[in-house]
Amino acid sequence: MNSPKRYTVTCALPYANGPLHIGHLAGAYIPGDIYVRYLRAQNKDVLFICGSDEHGVPITIRAKKEGISPQQIVDKYHKMMKDSFQEFGITFDNFSGTSRPIHHQTASDFFTKMYHDGKFIEQVSEQLYDEKAKQFLADRFVTGTCPRCGYEEAYGDQCEKCGASLNATDLINPKSAITGTTPILKRTKHWFLPLDQYNDWLKEWIIKGHKIDWKTNVYGQCKSWIDEGLKPRAVTRDLDWGIPVPLKGAEGKVLYVWFDAPIGYISASKEWAERQGKNWEPYWKDKDTKLIHFIGKDNIVFHCIIFPVMLKAHGEYILPENVPANEFLNLEGKKLSTSKNWAVWLHEYLVDFKGKQDVLRYVITANAPETKDNNFSWKDFQTRNNSELVGIFGNFINRVVVLTQKYYGGIVPAATHYEVIDQEVLDTLKTFPEKISQAIEHFHFREAQIEMLNLARMGNKYLADEEPWKLIKTEPERVKTILNVALQIAAALIPLSKPFLPFTSQKLKDLLQLENDLNWYDPKEGNLLPAGHKIGKAILLFDKIEDEEIQAQLDKLASTKKANEAAAKKEVAPQKEIIEFEDFAKLDLRTAEILEAERIPKSDKLLKFKVDTGIDQRTIVSGIAKQFQPEELIGKKVCIVANLKPRKLRGVMSEGMILMTEDKEGKIVFIEPEEPVQNGNFLQ
Ligand code: MF3
Ligand code: ZN
Repeated sequence: MNSPKRYTVTCALPYANGPLHIGHLAGAYIPGDIYVRYLRAQNKDVLFICGSDEHGVPITIRAKKEGISPQQIVDKYHKMMKDSFQEFGITFDNFSGTSRPIHHQTASDFFTKMYHDGKFIEQVSEQLYDEKAKQFLADRFVTGTCPRCGYEEAYGDQCEKCGASLNATDLINPKSAITGTTPILKRTKHWFLPLDQYNDWLKEWIIKGHKIDWKTNVYGQCKSWIDEGLKPRAVTRDLDWGIPVPLKGAEGKVLYVWFDAPIGYISASKEWAERQGKNWEPYWKDKDTKLIHFIGKDNIVFHCIIFPVMLKAHGEYILPENVPANEFLNLEGKKLSTSKNWAVWLHEYLVDFKGKQDVLRYVITANAPETKDNNFSWKDFQTRNNSELVGIFGNFINRVVVLTQKYYGGIVPAATHYEVIDQEVLDTLKTFPEKISQAIEHFHFREAQIEMLNLARMGNKYLADEEPWKLIKTEPERVKTILNVALQIAAALIPLSKPFLPFTSQKLKDLLQLENDLNWYDPKEGNLLPAGHKIGKAILLFDKIEDEEIQAQLDKLASTKKANEAAAKKEVAPQKEIIEFEDFAKLDLRTAEILEAERIPKSDKLLKFKVDTGIDQRTIVSGIAKQFQPEELIGKKVCIVANLKPRKLRGVMSEGMILMTEDKEGKIVFIEPEEPVQNGNFLQ
């Protein structure tokens, strides 16, 4: 398809079960946004769609963890994600959500049509069941060993290691994620999508049809699944959070989240069209529309095999033209993880690096995991900011603007005579729109951004070589030409940097005081800033990032790492043997107060306390000298065991024990009464 009439571009709907981090941006949203901004710059008709994925087990698990309902979870994170996307300049036309009525309706209708057209197999089969939780286990409710690659933490529907799409019963040694028990098999009825019946069609469509234009990582994954042979997959689940299966006799069953979520792209398009008074159908049904899905690699099977089979089986829809999936972005060499808090959270970045959204966009694109996993490190972030954005882009613009102000009061001088070097620079400038276009159209966003920076680099070098600041005294006419040429390069950076650095592009436009938007191909025509045009006063487009700011981020990660290590070491101890009430009643547990505290000479572990127990004042010795300064504990309300047999420690008689535990970082914390109580009260 050469010049389609319109584009429908989607980015994976992120699960509304937590905030967004840099991995999300790198996988789908920044590449999607660059692509769409580029298309819009070409005046293409494009619809850019996203929303939150609000069903499925991840939501239920998070709701349990936070002690609120799934809907509350979804509402909370939907808003958070929407705000982050907006802050980072991701320009979705609609950011919807799959718990909305319009989506429930659309997904139900989709299922119903397929059902009536006989596209499903109805089957009673044995599925994993957790007897303790009294619930069927599917998807992320169950983990086990992947039968394909041996990874031990595979989920019931997918192995994140090898990307395999699984049925829960395929897992070796399955374990319930709810109770940790081994599930049994129990019979239940479900509706299956017979993927095996589409094997030949998929061969034709992907293996023959998209060998050349799909990325090798995407094509390779698809080919190996198709070659292995696909199996029927259940598209319904025994769960209580999701879209009810719209059939009689299916009470208590919902649509599988990966059945409903991609239909969310369609619902979000409908919602957008309703708001805009437009028709959504051409964006999904007209053969002249190019449908592109931006996703991370763990979503490949769903977007390249399952959803296309659904679209094909349904019959009314177009198929994706391309699915430019990215691999994963690591953080400081380790896999990003929401549960392990190993991430750079977007909402935290926005506080720590206020106004520096473009810097993160830039660094993520510079390290985009386009063909293999790639790494984000804070050092690299600093270097790229300081030497590329500040040192090249910012420096070039600053020089041009400062010199134009200084020599000509901010008025663009006329070029009087082009020398060979000027002509060469101007000719090269003309090639940039095409070069960057080519890279973007092939989804090579890293390369595209490198070319964009090369344009600034060319400007910088031109000034450094021509040294107008030296010539101004001897050859003032020559300087006019040099600055005119340099200003053309500066102006060309407005449209050409916009897909990558939208905030900077806007600042540059304001700085050069251009009223109208420049078009993508204007740099080809030349004379973007006519002689006589007045530009503004110099402002810095980028600031240097100091070592301390980077250290603070590294410290944050170091403490996360420590906490994770402590948590991994600590397993919850099993319950001790049952005791009689009388045994418990023998314990004299009571509230007390620390009156005095001091170190015990020659011991680096022990502290000696004088404690008011309500009945008396006595000495208690405790092994916490490494964690606390004695002074900070004076006056502290504590709980003690008062009738513990006295014991001599380093020559000091200890008459009791102060109760403590450890927090998740392994730090000692006291058990203290929540409200002030008098000394000597029993604990019961
Ligand atoms: N929520 C999924 C994830 O985060 C992506 C869903 S994409 C869609 O991995 F196509 F289903 F919408
Ligand atoms: Zn695997």
